[in-house]
Amino acid sequence: MNNKMPETLYWDKGELFLLDQLELPNKVIYRKCKTYTDVIKSIKNMIVRGAPAIGVAAAYGMVLAGTKTAKLSPTEKIKFIKKVSEEMIQARPTAVNLKWAVDKMCLVVESSLKLNPENFIIALEKAANEIYDEDIECNKVMADFGARLLKKNSVVLTHCNAGALATAGYGTALGMIRTGYKNGKIKRVFVDETRPYLQGARLTAWELQQEKIPYTLITDNMAGYIMKTEKIDAVIVGADRIASNGDVANKIGTYSLSILAKYHKIPFYVVAPSSTIDFSTLYGTKIKIEERSAEEVLKINGKEIAPKGTIVRHPGFDITPASNITMIITEKGVFKPNKISTLKKIK
Ligand code: MRU
Repeated sequence: MNNKMPETLYWDKGELFLLDQLELPNKVIYRKCKTYTDVIKSIKNMIVRGAPAIGVAAAYGMVLAGTKTAKLSPTEKIKFIKKVSEEMIQARPTAVNLKWAVDKMCLVVESSLKLNPENFIIALEKAANEIYDEDIECNKVMADFGARLLKKNSVVLTHCNAGALATAGYGTALGMIRTGYKNGKIKRVFVDETRPYLQGARLTAWELQQEKIPYTLITDNMAGYIMKTEKIDAVIVGADRIASNGDVANKIGTYSLSILAKYHKIPFYVVAPSSTIDFSTLYGTKIKIEERSAEEVLKINGKEIAPKGTIVRHPGFDITPASNITMIITEKGVFKPNKISTLKKIK
């Protein structure tokens, strides 16, 4: 990754710093989280977003929660941490990496109850740092696997932001694009703007520009025309939760893109770490889809764009059926979607 790319988040002397993704691409500003409630708020209002990134932020949020437990008995500690973990998971219910990271931190709490307060926090910090490091490592491995699937000089299309900003670093779908570009496999990236939050226009375009990877921004409704008239070699997206039958929840608009890709016979790749797979959810239809506020649809840059009183729907994600996906690329290998459940057995 280009050294100029600012970190998505970092932990420094007991505080969490989040790159404010609401301010990008105009300003690079970090927001300090001193308490676990600061972290929950930042996840809810999308200062930090992207499935793996909110998982990592939540892990540090659990460290901050741990600092409030010094005077509690082991039973009270468990009760408090359980309450915080439920609040944390509810902050964004679709992305399963959040629950995955919080559950991991709860196990560390349970196994560290006998430690003194100082060592208790050291154990939690160590676990959160491991989640952070592991995320970047997984992204690099997936990027190598994925780039091998592309032919030279491919033109690809991506949706939302599944980049360094959506992870601890490097990115999932955009990680594959980074490595692909470096290896001569990619010559141009079409970027969906991704209404209503504009993660494509604001964040993916910004990341690609930082890395000097050639890109062209399109509005979401242009994708079909571009697939028909330009030579698109692959669609590459991330995931927020993958059911055990290979159905994928990802940013709203991904399902439509998968249908367009299938119609135009374009390979459709999903890049996600194994922490995004929810083996306990059998089908995509069982995944809870986060409904976000009407205001995010009714306004652009704070300006109303529809008549007052307009009724709005705002599902934040949709489900792409396994049958529309060519391959799911994880750090443990590349899988046909209907074989993703075999990954459960791979350590
Ligand atoms: O609402 P967001 O911006 O958190 O949604 C992000 C996405 O849908 C990403 O595609 C997904 O989290 C994969 S990120 C590596």
